[in-house]
Formats: sequence, structure tokens, C-alpha cells
Amino acid sequence: MSNRLNEQIDKAADSVIKFGNICALTGAGISVESGIPPFRGQGGIWDKFDPFEYAHIDSFMKNPAKVWDVLLKEMKQTLDKAKPSKAHMALVDLESLGLLKTVITQNIDGLHQASGSNDVIEFHGNFANLSCLSCDKAFKMSEIDIRSMPPKCSCGGYIRPNCVFFGENIPFEALQRSHEAAVSCKIMLVIGTSATVQPAASIPITAKKSGAIIIEINPEKTALSSGISDIFIQGRASIIMTDLLKAIKL
Ligand code: APR
Repeated sequence: MSNRLNEQIDKAADSVIKFGNICALTGAGISVESGIPPFRGQGGIWDKFDPFEYAHIDSFMKNPAKVWDVLLKEMKQTLDKAKPSKAHMALVDLESLGLLKTVITQNIDGLHQASGSNDVIEFHGNFANLSCLSCDKAFKMSEIDIRSMPPKCSCGGYIRPNCVFFGENIPFEALQRSHEAAVSCKIMLVIGTSATVQPAASIPITAKKSGAIIIEINPEKTALSSGISDIFIQGRASIIMTDLLKAIKL
């Protein structure tokens, strides 16, 4: 590992030890090493599917069968196989060390909860829970049989995943709790997000305005990297988070 990278990790570890009170903001990048492709960048899902044709609420309402058949079925199969990465586990370590309270995630894969994080705000909802568009009956993804698409409720209504489609609002409670976490943390650990989708991309700015130190982990630079992030650590989440925990525990 380069000296520069080690310096950045040591600087981040010093801040964590000194201030603690971390809030993490995660994006698809933290789950890449769990086998879930990102949306943008190398191997991005939106390179294969047009998000406005397959991930917008208007497209889903117009043709749920097409969205299920093309995007959601493949997503279910990918998520069913995914397991928490070392980066998810490192966040659980930080929580058990009393250094991290809340994880705000843009991901719908449930991997933070599966890894043992206790305070997870699902900013874009989740894929594990579903509901009937007609009668609002609740379903679990494990009840959905991908051989009969699109899934329908016994009332005849179509079933939708409880993730936030483009064109939908962020759940109010997630917005409120994320704002509270951002203004009260001393450090915001931003892991694996392209910081391109609002309003999630503004969360680190809110934290910075409230005096938090912004530590960003990503193999690529983002709009946050120069100007918002105080420490930018270039690399894959599992490797960097493992080394960060080692430096903290030294
Ligand atoms: N470790 C850390 N970061 C990684 C890794 C990795 N191994 N691999 C890729 N990345 C980074 C990429 O460089 C990129 O900056 O993760 C980021 C993934 O960006 P996106 O795919 O845009 O994911 P995200 O920022 O979470 O997207 C936000 O957009 O499409 C919507 O609702 C969807 O929640 C999603 C939102």
C-alpha cells in the first residue's frame, strides 16, 4: 500500500479515535464486493438498463410485468445470493467499539442489517419488503415466485417492492432521521457512493456544514472529493475499511 494511502488511513484513524460519533453514508460501492453490481461506473446496472425505462415509478405503473421481467427478477436473484462484505462487517466493528451509531444507506440490499448493524436508515427503502398496489397487503421477497411474473396479490393487484423508484419521494422518516444524524455526528464516513443522486448526495454537505469531518472511501473521485471530503481514501471499501479498523485498534 502506498505511503500516501497509509497516511490518509492514519489521518482518518486519528480523527475517529479523537472524535468518534461517526455516521456512515453508504452507496452501492460497499456492496460491490458482496457480488452486487453498482448502478454507475464499471459494470454499472444503468449501462444495461435505462433507469427511466425500468426504475421510474411511471414506467412501473405503466407496465409492471416489463419492469419485473427485465430488472426486478435479476435484482432478486442477485440479492438472494449476496452476503455482507468485510466493509459491512467493519462498520459493525465500529459500532461495537462505540464509535459509530447510525448507518444511512442508499442501498436496498439489506446487507447492513444482515451484517449486524443496529441503526440503519434505508434512504431508498428496501427490496426485502413488498406491498400490493391495490389493497396494500404486505409481502416478503421470499414469498415471491419469479416463475410467475409479475407477482400478483390474491386481490388481483400487482405487487411492488418497497424500494424508492425514481419519481418517488424519500420516506419522510428516513429524511428526518438522516438529517438529525448528519447534523449531530462528528465524523461522516462516506463509502461507495457516486454522490450523484439527490437528496442523498447532499447529506455529507449537511454534515460538513454542522462541523463534521468528512472521510470518503471510493476507488474513484466524486463531486465530494475536492471541497467536501476532508480525507479522501482511494480504494475498495473492504480493503480500506479493514486497514482503517486495524489502524484504529492499534
Ligand atoms: N468499494 C467502494 N466503492 C466502490 C467500489 C468498491 N469496491 N466499487 C465501486 N465503487 C464506487 C464507484 O466508484 C461509485 O462511485 O461506488 C460508487 C457507486 O456509485 P453508484 O452506482 O452511482 O451508486 P450510488 O451512489 O449508491 O447510487 C445512488 O442511485 O440509481 C440510484 O437508487 C439508486 O441508491 C442508488 C442511487
